[in-house]
Amino acid sequence: MAQQGSLHGEVYYPSPEVIARARLKDWDALAKRAQEDLEGFWAEEASELEWYQKWERVLDDSQKPFYKWFIGGKVNIVHNCLDRHQTTYRKNKLALIWVGEPGDVRTYSYFALHREVNQFANVLKAMGIRKGDRVTIYMPRIPEIVIAMLACAKIGAIHSVVYGGFSVDALQGRIEDSQSRMVITADGGWMNGKIVELKKTVDEALKRCPSVESVIVVKRTGQEIRMEPGRDYWYHELIKLPVANGHCPTEVMDAEDPLFILYTSGTTGKPKAILHVHGGYMVGVYSTLKYVFDIQDDDRWWCAADPGWITGHSYIVYGPLLLGATSFMYEGAPTYPYPDRWWALIEKYGITILYTAPTAIRGLMRFGESWPNRHDLSSLRLLGTVGEPINPEAWKWYYRVIGKERCPIMDTWWQTETGMFMITPTPVVPLKPGSGTRPFFGQEADILDEQGNPVPVGEEGYLVLKRPWPAMLRTIYGDPERYVKQYWSKYPGLYMTGDSARRDEDGYFWIIGRVDDVIKVSGYRLGTAEIESALVSHPAVAEAAAIGLPHEVKGNAIHAYCLLRAGYTPSEALAEELRQHVAQHLGPIAKPEKIEFVTSLPKTRSGKIMRRVLRARALGMPEGDLSTLEE
Ligand code: PRX
Repeated sequence: MAQQGSLHGEVYYPSPEVIARARLKDWDALAKRAQEDLEGFWAEEASELEWYQKWERVLDDSQKPFYKWFIGGKVNIVHNCLDRHQTTYRKNKLALIWVGEPGDVRTYSYFALHREVNQFANVLKAMGIRKGDRVTIYMPRIPEIVIAMLACAKIGAIHSVVYGGFSVDALQGRIEDSQSRMVITADGGWMNGKIVELKKTVDEALKRCPSVESVIVVKRTGQEIRMEPGRDYWYHELIKLPVANGHCPTEVMDAEDPLFILYTSGTTGKPKAILHVHGGYMVGVYSTLKYVFDIQDDDRWWCAADPGWITGHSYIVYGPLLLGATSFMYEGAPTYPYPDRWWALIEKYGITILYTAPTAIRGLMRFGESWPNRHDLSSLRLLGTVGEPINPEAWKWYYRVIGKERCPIMDTWWQTETGMFMITPTPVVPLKPGSGTRPFFGQEADILDEQGNPVPVGEEGYLVLKRPWPAMLRTIYGDPERYVKQYWSKYPGLYMTGDSARRDEDGYFWIIGRVDDVIKVSGYRLGTAEIESALVSHPAVAEAAAIGLPHEVKGNAIHAYCLLRAGYTPSEALAEELRQHVAQHLGPIAKPEKIEFVTSLPKTRSGKIMRRVLRARALGMPEGDLSTLEE
């Protein structure tokens, strides 16, 4: 480990207390071990979990980039999340403490969670769901979303969770692409004191989704909703049927069998379904959460993301349960009814580790220190951040005001595709505000120029990953060609992240941002193409271009340029109507901050919109190389 003072720039070295508590004290030794024997390292990690049948080989790279891990191994991630804890003291340990926005509380021991997952898995089977079937889950942040995901995985069905903040078009496109047979949803969820009407959105989306045979609805808000006879069923009624008993065998899966698909935005076209599998994903998520957040039996872990995103999949649902940890989950908004809701929850439930996003920190920072200072936050011992680069100012606020200068901040860089943390410290690694430090054990990253040469220290370039890792995406579901093209073709043999970054003289990585047409709004990943098609679906819009511009809280905000059809004239009212239109079709997070009406868009000769020119113009920066711009 680096000695005090040996690193460049502003460095926060771990305190003796932090080092004393950390399960892994010698970062360098393990990094070296994993570097020298990648398969040996991952085999050891995998051996800490239970397998129905051990793998024959750790890594098969004979069909690159279609890597396979733990070949021949038989396993089910749910066995390790739930079943195996039933024969230990953890049976009676709390798996989940949940608080609803209105203040209702529910808790599940490992026993109770296991039992309800079994019950619901039996319901799914009784309704005809089989191994390999896709099930779309579109739910608020309530315990049943966790139960639904685990129940699918238990019987070998592939879950496809669609974030509850998405609207009709986004939901419909994802159901259709996955050809889901079932949708699991709720009558609504609470957010900012209001009901999010999920079921209405489902009804709307299903008008155009013939693959869906049944809908299961959790009663959350109790408001009146429409239930379609023969298609829609109440969760609480199904779970009481005799068939829904508390015993359900866990399906024996091959290590490489699909666990879930999760849609994410890419460079072009419609969102792509990232596929993760039972074996490697399980091992990667388990190992990263164990080393990075160092969760131990007395911890109370709060990952404040939504289960609908990869952060929630890996580190609300699967990771903590694999470790037998106690997780905390909160349904609503951080500022409801007051800006100290989160701090009050940390105090009341004795949260020891908080993992959130820069946008949330910046948002809460705006309300000032007096809100957190009203609460005893002394239970905290570690903090974390993910989703976008954290500006040093927000990092320091988080460190000082929330962590009281005691709690190291784990800045974890990773992606839906990577499934697990890729560039991240562990508690004993010296920190620099704004840097995710170095690659996780067994990984190697580099920063390359256009030609594939490593750039000099301090210079910006494309971030690539050089070695395979067990939780890596296996493919884009239904589109293996796009998988190869998108991630493995710019630099043969290397994984292209889509991010730009630089590396400093200590080998620390600093993420700059996306280099493709993906915009990170409040940490959420949106494609310009999705926003543009939502705009063009409005009768007034002939053509549209969306870009991200810096925003103090959201990181980036969407600015859209619209070319109107003949007969329509620009007006404030029309701009507002278009903003609402995008929110209704795609989701409130995609709502453009600003809409500008234009009479032309900068395009290449081949007709591609040059968003970088729009960005440069909006920011008053040089427009760069315009040689491909059409006159
Ligand atoms: O640009 C990087 C940014 O989020 C992208 C991945 O987005 P998504 O697949 O939605 O997953 C987000 C949660 C894992 C990356 O390409 N990103 C993620 N974490 C960080 C980050 N940028 C900087 N620092 C991070 N810690």
